Amino acid sequence: MKLRELKSIIMRPDVYKEGLKNFSRSFSCEFRERAVLVEIGSYAGESTEILSKGFYLVFAIDPWDSNPESMDSSSTERYNAGIVDAEKSFDYMRQMRPNIIKLKGNDDLFTYAFSENSIDVLYIDGFHTFEDVKKNIFNWYLKVKVGGFICGHDYKEETPGVIQAVDAVLGQEKELFDDTSWKFLMTQDLKERIEEFYEQDKM
Ligand SMILES: C[S@@+](CC[C@H](N)C(=O)[O-])C[C@H]1O[C@@H](n2cnc3c(N)ncnc32)[C@H](O)[C@@H]1O
Repeated sequence: MKLRELKSIIMRPDVYKEGLKNFSRSFSCEFRERAVLVEIGSYAGESTEILSKGFYLVFAIDPWDSNPESMDSSSTERYNAGIVDAEKSFDYMRQMRPNIIKLKGNDDLFTYAFSENSIDVLYIDGFHTFEDVKKNIFNWYLKVKVGGFICGHDYKEETPGVIQAVDAVLGQEKELFDDTSWKFLMTQDLKERIEEFYEQDKM
């Protein structure tokens, strides 16, 4: 695939790129240079590449699945239409970024590979429904260190499921960025809040 073709499926406008860079810069250098980050939802690897320039090690999780049943009804068709090319674009980008580890599959598949309190930053950018974001949080919150961060993308009107899930499960103590990234410090209190929500949600 030619670089020109790969660029055609890339979706992040420049202001978003800058916003994600600012998100990375909001962590101290000392923190970033040893930080393990897990990204849920990598698509063509645009955000992954930016994050890999800011953080020590990035695990990029995505099924890159073109099955129509596994597509995102909450998002634009752009994400779904080019998933095969998106994976090619991701693989091309990754050749230059040895600190990215590609994990192909739904996030559920990989939670067991991470121990509790082992992740410094979780970045959620999978599907955008309330249920999907809530499930991503439930799957991973125990893996995030106290003193680490739980974050994600698309806290914006167009994706109300993200706003609802973030507000309901995590509360209001967030930092927001120009690219609609959101960020919470993981504390013991926040873990307990998520656990409580999880228990009520199961009933
Ligand atoms: C919005 S796109 C990600 C965009 C990318 N982070 C960026 O900013 O360049 C959403 C991606 O999430 C992936 N996805 C959906 N559900 C997922 C899950 N449960 N685990 C991992 N990835 C998922 C989709 O395959 C899709 O590629």
